[in-house]
Amino acid sequence: MDRIKIFDTTLRDGEQSPGCSMNLHEKIEVARCLERLKVDVIEAGFARSSPGDFESVNTIAKTVKDCTVASLARANIGDIDAAWDAVKCAVDPRIHLFIATSPLHMEYKLKMTPEQVLEKTAAMVAYAAGKCSNIEFSCEDATRSDWAFMAKVVEAAIKNGATVINLPDTVGYTTPDEMRALVEYMVKNVPGSDKVEYSVHCHNDLGMAVANSLAGVMGGARQIECTINGLGERAGNTSLEEVVMAMRTRPSFFPELPRLDTTQIYRSSKTVYSIIGQAAPLNKPIVGRNAFLHESGIHQHGVLNNRQTYEILTPESVGIQVSNIVLGKHSGKHAFEDRLVQLGYQLEADELAKCFEEFKDLCDKKKDVTDADIEAIVTHNTVRQEEIVDGYTLDWFSVHTSSLTTATCTVSMKKDGEKFESVALGDGPIDAAFKAIDQIVKPHNHAFENFTIHSISEGKDTLGDVIVKLSMDGQYFTGKGLSTDILEASIVAYINAINKLCATAAQEQGKEVQ
Ligand code: KIV
Ligand code: ZN
Repeated sequence: MDRIKIFDTTLRDGEQSPGCSMNLHEKIEVARCLERLKVDVIEAGFARSSPGDFESVNTIAKTVKDCTVASLARANIGDIDAAWDAVKCAVDPRIHLFIATSPLHMEYKLKMTPEQVLEKTAAMVAYAAGKCSNIEFSCEDATRSDWAFMAKVVEAAIKNGATVINLPDTVGYTTPDEMRALVEYMVKNVPGSDKVEYSVHCHNDLGMAVANSLAGVMGGARQIECTINGLGERAGNTSLEEVVMAMRTRPSFFPELPRLDTTQIYRSSKTVYSIIGQAAPLNKPIVGRNAFLHESGIHQHGVLNNRQTYEILTPESVGIQVSNIVLGKHSGKHAFEDRLVQLGYQLEADELAKCFEEFKDLCDKKKDVTDADIEAIVTHNTVRQEEIVDGYTLDWFSVHTSSLTTATCTVSMKKDGEKFESVALGDGPIDAAFKAIDQIVKPHNHAFENFTIHSISEGKDTLGDVIVKLSMDGQYFTGKGLSTDILEASIVAYINAINKLCATAAQEQGKEVQ
């Protein structure tokens, strides 16, 4: 039997969910992670939805060598043409075509009769197959569709050249038994099923996306659609790390394991969380901070005697290195590089130089530098911030605060060789610092969405990881800062977010002038 394929849609279904939008650099960074993970298919976006999406799908199609690259398309000629134009340069391009098949969607969204949906499917799959030999066809809202009608639609798609048939649980409505039965029904009743691969795409509205995907596999599906960290519309999609590790942990149920390199899971998860400006919930399976912690005495005792008493998978299998090794100010570049390799990072020379410099700075402030610190440094330096060449950088800041007086902060920033200084009062030092920055950078019509600080490791001298999220006209801008001084990390994070926002505002203004 063929092994299970992993179709990752972090860059399409994940990215289209609120607060998760990414810029081109960030999308390329995620695509690099996905290639390292060895997913089979990367759904790089929805090429027709905007010129920016077309560009990112196209750039990823040119960049990725070891995975199929797909673009989503609705069942119309414009979408199919855009999808094909964006992915045709890929080593293995795919067009992912979809149309809704449930009574609700056909009547209220498409305003089409079932017969029209059937005809459109045949015509549009044939049109797409005339361009590309790898066509995935999805029946949107499959789990609320009439199975007999959907079987006819799928038959038409197969007859006209579809090679993969996807059955999405678009609204996270199904249950494992039903999902399994649905796939079994299609495989058994649709002529030509033996020539295609079936796929499942589950949403997590009732918390069953992973279970439903696994049940789909038991029913005969050979492709699972999922996202890193389970990002996606509403409650998200099937989480890649959970569904893959479930199969690895129970190979007697899932002997046809995916080709995925699971040791890249933790790093990929961190990269994606860092890009979207979120931290993993502590109890998130596989990648949350508590996923491998044992707090109660009984559990600790068991684990000390034999890890398997309370651990069904090892942290190492997902790329979490558990070690007591700490580096410090006497560690040289080789020791640093060795540790990076053990942690699963192979950096380009320029990235390594930047990370090592930051590591040395940290050693001056913190006695023991842990793996978590090193990973934070690497994530901050390798998740490329949008290259804003002419952005602001922090020169210095000075703050005065007490419980008796209003906080005051002076911030000095540089841009294009020029220096800018401003002082502001605020409700606490962070508010004062951000106000001082706002006075330098002329105010935009933006909203402050979110501000988080979390500590990278234990101890009072831990690195503070700050994420600031701003929004303007429906777009989100995330800035990150990392320092043992949380005020400095906050200021840097705010400046990074402001730089991204200003660059976008300048681009939009440029378009208006043209
Ligand atoms: O959830 C869904 O139905 C989708 C399709 C477009 C595949 O994302
Ligand atoms: Zn979806």
